[in-house]
Amino acid sequence: MNHTKVIDVLQSTQFGAEVVVKGWVRTKRGNKNVNFIAINDGSTIKNIQLVVDVEKFDEELLKKITTGAAVCVKGTLVQSQGKGQSVEVLAKEIEVYGTANPETYPLQKKGHSLEFLREIAHLRPRTNTFGAVFRIRHNMAMAIHTFFHQKGFFYFHTPIITASDCEGAGQMFQVTTKNLYDLKKDENGSITYDDDFFGKQASLTVSGQLEGELAAMGLGGIYTFGPTFRAENSNTPRHLAEFWMIEPEIAFYDINDNMDLAEEFIKYCVKWALENCRDDVQFLNDMFDKELIARLEGVLNQDFVRIPYGEGIRVLEEAVANGKKFEFPVYWGVDLASEHERYLVEEYYKCPVIMTDYPKEIKAFYMKQNDDGKTVRAMDVLFPQIGEIIGGSEREADYDKLLTRINELNIPMKDMWWYLDTRRFGSCPHSGFGLGFERLLLFVTGMANIRDVIPFPRTPKNAEF
Ligand code: 4AD
Ligand code: MG
Repeated sequence: MNHTKVIDVLQSTQFGAEVVVKGWVRTKRGNKNVNFIAINDGSTIKNIQLVVDVEKFDEELLKKITTGAAVCVKGTLVQSQGKGQSVEVLAKEIEVYGTANPETYPLQKKGHSLEFLREIAHLRPRTNTFGAVFRIRHNMAMAIHTFFHQKGFFYFHTPIITASDCEGAGQMFQVTTKNLYDLKKDENGSITYDDDFFGKQASLTVSGQLEGELAAMGLGGIYTFGPTFRAENSNTPRHLAEFWMIEPEIAFYDINDNMDLAEEFIKYCVKWALENCRDDVQFLNDMFDKELIARLEGVLNQDFVRIPYGEGIRVLEEAVANGKKFEFPVYWGVDLASEHERYLVEEYYKCPVIMTDYPKEIKAFYMKQNDDGKTVRAMDVLFPQIGEIIGGSEREADYDKLLTRINELNIPMKDMWWYLDTRRFGSCPHSGFGLGFERLLLFVTGMANIRDVIPFPRTPKNAEF
């Protein structure tokens, strides 16, 4: 007999019918006559309760049923007598697939700290919290694909191994098959790569954007959704060395179209979570962050504030003049820290903010240059609790201007020929942005640390599991 998922058993009204459920024991309580065993199989945050008539089972078998054990139970579905659940299963047969010794199994009933759970990340999917987080993570991936598919955008796969540094920030992890103990060098002492696997220096990508632009120039609207890598040594609750990014790129979009898309996109994802992950979001709201649902609903009900960078700086400078203390200084030209972004969003505007027209010095080479010669058509979407959740821009479509900027920044030209071809042949206005998947998940789950929204986080000095 096939087993039924707990999520379906809980919704069934076929009382008296025989069911088979399989899952892991969460709790066991009771007395010498009857045991109540809560089983979870990951299909939902909720457990199914088994009612076990102790007399009818072998004592040794019941002893093996402890927290964490995997079991298969055949029984009768009945309406629950007790509080807290509507249905339960009267057990007729129980098989224990795998025991979990209470002396050594780390996930006992008592609540563990998130820090401790990070050290046993291989067991995290078995907890309520991470079950909820990872179900939401799946749901957000489905929301993202559905959103773009419905809009007629194509999912485009960009390479993970690349020879170009899209963001130009020098934060790339190298990929090599060279013998690191015996590196071939040229007469200047520089390492040569002609004998390396790709015949040139290669790295893990920091962004799929450059290849995404190539695709947009033929397919119109595309998006990528894949892993990206940054060797930035920032040990913060918002940075990972390996994270997932969604990067739409759209021909004939200007910065305003781009902002509209970003806002619609995030709202779509948040709405999806509220509608399709209600039990999990409610659980996280009740356990960790009592404001979570209110914050999610708040985002849906507001038009994001749109301001130029210069206006943001003015507001921040005014705040400083009025006594507000920031750790980092504020002045025109500064790359905003998340404390600045959060002040604007949480305290000043009390609303998500889309900031545009940043100084060109703090943004990447590919952004469309404004006529003032100082700023570029960048846009960052700033969110409560998170700070920057999206970074994007209208792209510089003019060949000469782009080339001048590439030269100013000393970006090696010969590596960029294929990218420049987009501006040589049929160039057009186009725009795009990148959403950090884990930053979105931080927002939607209310978790405070990015290490808790990705199954196996990669951060400085940490690549366990
Ligand atoms: O602002 P970023 O660096 O922009 C780009 O990579 C562009 N190529 C995107 C584009 O226009 N197609 O990164 C985009 C987003 C950030 O807003 C942030 O949400 C996330 O990626 N992000 C990180 N998330 C986790 N850990 C890190 N180390 C991240 N760095 C960026
Ligand atoms: Mg950015």
